[in-house]
Amino acid sequence: MILVTGATGTTGSALVDTLLARGLPVTAVTRDPRRVTPRPGLTVTTSIGPADALYLLSPAGPAIPEHDLTTLRAAIDAGIRRVVKLSAIGTPSRPAAAEELGAWHQPGEEAVRTSGLEWTILRPTTFATNSLVWAEDIRAGRPITNIFGDGAQGIVDPADIAEVAAEALTTAGHHGRTYTLTGPELLTVPDQVAQLGEALGRQLTTVDVEPRREHFPPEIADVALAGAHLVRRGGNAVVTDDAERVLGRKPGTYRAWAEANRARF
Ligand SMILES: NC(=O)c1ccc[n+]([C@@H]2O[C@H](COP(=O)([O-])OP(=O)(O)OC[C@H]3O[C@@H](n4cnc5c(N)ncnc54)[C@H](OP(=O)(O)O)[C@@H]3O)[C@@H](O)[C@H]2O)c1
Repeated sequence: MILVTGATGTTGSALVDTLLARGLPVTAVTRDPRRVTPRPGLTVTTSIGPADALYLLSPAGPAIPEHDLTTLRAAIDAGIRRVVKLSAIGTPSRPAAAEELGAWHQPGEEAVRTSGLEWTILRPTTFATNSLVWAEDIRAGRPITNIFGDGAQGIVDPADIAEVAAEALTTAGHHGRTYTLTGPELLTVPDQVAQLGEALGRQLTTVDVEPRREHFPPEIADVALAGAHLVRRGGNAVVTDDAERVLGRKPGTYRAWAEANRARF
């Protein structure tokens, strides 16, 4: 049995689909079981209980350390032996100041590494699904706000993160590994928007805007602003072959994600 936290979210829902498609029993953890559609092989719970392995996901924000530590403690108490933690690219291995980029996931990573469980840490870069926030502007015919300038990123498809997680949760050889997960190529926001426009059959434009606190919800503004400036100066222009080494194939392109997700824009 694999326990999936964040099962209604971006990577968690893809992971549930992946595990069920492999015929593996899954328990989805959610605060609201009514949000999970019943399926053969799937059980739903609101709390951590006995299982073979845990996908540890905490919702983005400053509460990540507390959520990670509470969930991990419950998993150890329940006798779970293996954990795969979703972290983020650039998370430092040393303690970080609270407002520092990378501070959200560092305590959870450290707790996982010292838990005594079999562990794998996944550090994905920016998700392809983040571009769904452009949908409203696209529908309204407005230019897409670009706070990242010409900073490029190795945009990753969350379905590939889920497949790597499924491998680490269910097969041998991933204990003690930290995988930095990216897509196959570096793309700027204008690159992404051009590919999305081709997928949608529309001419889309961007407008370059200096990132400001007001662009983000107040509780994440410090970290998000630091992240935006990092991307702008080219600090997240990273492509790795970690996903390819685990999956035995190239990770998906942003173009393929855009074509498969046309209906969501
Ligand atoms: N987006 C990116 O580009 C990116 C890049 C690198 C790393 N990450 C990391 O990915 C993780 C997930 O981010 P996401 O934005 O894509 O989230 P998400 O996985 O779409 O959704 C968050 C999930 O957390 C669950 N949850 C449990 N307690 C919650 C609470 N108190 N408040 C809100 N949700 C709660 C929700 O489940 P229920 O509502 O069913 O309970 C939901 O399924 C974060 O740790 C983030 O740092 C994201």
